Amino acid sequence: MHLPKPFIIGATMLATAEAGNSSFTANLTATGYGTVFDVPITIGDQTFDLLVDTGSSDTYVMKTGYTCINSLDNMIIPEEGCRYSNKTYTISETHRSISDEIFGIKYGDGIASGEMAYENVSLGGISVGDQKVGIVNVSNPMGDGVNSGLLGLAYPSITSAHPANHTSNQTYWYERLPYDPVLFTMHKEGFIEPYFSLALAHTPQNEPTSFGGYLTLGGLPPVAHSEGFSSVPVEILEDLPVAFTSGEKVRSYWATTVSGASYGSSAGNMAANETSFQAFVDSGNYMQYLPAAIVEPVNAMFSPPAIYNNKTQAYVVECDALAPEFGLKIGNQTFFHNGEDLIYRISNETCVSSLASSESISIEGLTLNIIGVPFLKNVIAVFDFGNNEMRFSKKLDLNSTASDNSGH
Ligand SMILES: *[C@@H]1O[C@H](CO)[C@@H](O)[C@H](O)[C@H]1NC(C)=O
Ligand SMILES: *[C@@H]1O[C@H](CO)[C@@H](O)[C@H](O)[C@H]1NC(C)=O
Ligand SMILES: *[C@@H]1O[C@H](CO)[C@@H](O)[C@H](O)[C@H]1NC(C)=O
Ligand SMILES: *[C@@H]1O[C@H](CO)[C@@H](O)[C@H](O)[C@H]1NC(C)=O
Ligand SMILES: *[C@@H]1O[C@H](CO)[C@@H](O)[C@H](O)[C@H]1NC(C)=O
Ligand SMILES: *[C@@H]1O[C@H](CO)[C@@H](O)[C@H](O)[C@H]1NC(C)=O
Ligand SMILES: *[C@@H]1O[C@H](CO)[C@@H](O)[C@H](O)[C@H]1NC(C)=O
Ligand SMILES: *[C@@H]1O[C@H](CO)[C@@H](O)[C@H](O)[C@H]1NC(C)=O
Ligand SMILES: *[C@@H]1O[C@H](CO)[C@@H](O)[C@H](O)[C@H]1NC(C)=O
Ligand SMILES: *[C@@H]1O[C@H](CO)[C@@H](O)[C@H](O)[C@H]1NC(C)=O
Repeated sequence: MHLPKPFIIGATMLATAEAGNSSFTANLTATGYGTVFDVPITIGDQTFDLLVDTGSSDTYVMKTGYTCINSLDNMIIPEEGCRYSNKTYTISETHRSISDEIFGIKYGDGIASGEMAYENVSLGGISVGDQKVGIVNVSNPMGDGVNSGLLGLAYPSITSAHPANHTSNQTYWYERLPYDPVLFTMHKEGFIEPYFSLALAHTPQNEPTSFGGYLTLGGLPPVAHSEGFSSVPVEILEDLPVAFTSGEKVRSYWATTVSGASYGSSAGNMAANETSFQAFVDSGNYMQYLPAAIVEPVNAMFSPPAIYNNKTQAYVVECDALAPEFGLKIGNQTFFHNGEDLIYRISNETCVSSLASSESISIEGLTLNIIGVPFLKNVIAVFDFGNNEMRFSKKLDLNSTASDNSGH
């Protein structure tokens, strides 16, 4: 689920056989100065970069000639305004319309809609036919200049096909016709073990586009990590109204319980908040939305402090501020963030803390805690929909360029 930015807002696959089981790895591209991650996917006979999103479940691609709509005033604007790649989908020979359904989704930062279709989809060297995808002909601006849509990696219950007579674009959270997302289909058809993993590269934040790490299907990415994995169950998000998941209390996002947070200075006082809370892991979001009781003291510990700004709905901070130590306890380990990842450059001169309070944003009246890219850049994350479990291990070599936030 990508959320609004505060304020202003090649596909290379290698298959490796491990003890008889195959895993497939796709290289990612980092865009937006290391904040957005895209993966190459072939739909029909055309290859696109799509945003890698563990925070939603549909795969959609922009259709040639789509309409771009400004989110603020609903005016039609030129396609460039949507910031997607100009590589768009044209109906291929393997495309089959699903005439009694439509595609419609509302993310935190906009709406996309169009038709539902079956297409042949290839990712990481694996191809499936008969995959349901959204072919989008109307969208708010949600691109990054490189991608042409999105790859949704969460559970079937939050897919966004609707009956063809569904008209309002304000009710896409309801009246869903759930279907199997791409990786679920790949597993059901016997191509992969029922899990995938992400290792987001810790790229320097001064290059608009760079190597972004790996998405591995049915295996682990080729990245050194600490030996022990912390395993936690994927939970039903208690606060999500059942109406959002077709009346059933089922797994939806990659949610689990965070058992606390540690913060402070390693040289001196580390504080801990041991209140646990549910959160979901969202590779489509650079901001992390966590309880105010955690975010407020941590943001006050930046040097100089990050100050809440009503207009940005975020904590504005000097781009070269020193971030405190900050870790989230998940399972039996505390995963610390790299300080430079806690500072998010949203324009040339403006930076905000990537930690904001979940109470300050609200999606359909809900308060949801979200763990995003700053967390993921420091771990190997395994998303196991066979065992309904997530596993995290610390990356050993961050390959980072120290705390250089002086980039763009
Ligand atoms: C994927 O990226 C790695 C660098 O991490 C590179 O060695 C490899 O060649 C890339 N794969 C392909 C097929 O280009
Ligand atoms: C290979 O797949 C089988 C069947 O799913 C599983 O039981 C086994 O543990 C897997 N082996 C490895 C090394 O992952
Ligand atoms: C959503 O619906 C409203 C009202 O019909 C319309 O003005 C607006 O353009 C639509 N936006 C998108 C992105 O579809
Ligand atoms: C698409 O964008 C690329 C790079 O910006 C440009 O070279 C190319 O001419 C564009 N193609 C079309 C059809 O506009
Ligand atoms: C977009 O596609 C839908 C579903 O096929 C169709 O009903 C609608 O008229 C199209 N809208 C535009 C603006 O092309
Ligand atoms: C597309 O998928 C169908 C159904 O699995 C398959 O029969 C067909 O060979 C695929 N076509 C291509 C071009 O891959
Ligand atoms: C919309 O279509 C569904 C079947 O696809 C039907 O159950 C429902 O009653 C229809 N709603 C309206 C308002 O026509
Ligand atoms: C956490 O528990 C797992 C088993 O669930 C174990 O493999 C791992 O070593 C433990 N890690 C730590 C740091 O205790
Ligand atoms: C920020 O906004 C809230 C409510 O929108 C208001 O109560 C508060 O006074 C504002 N604070 C500042 C410093 O403007
Ligand atoms: C962005 O900042 C850099 C250095 O801080 C400066 O050289 C450059 O001119 C700025 N660019 C814009 C568009 O303001």
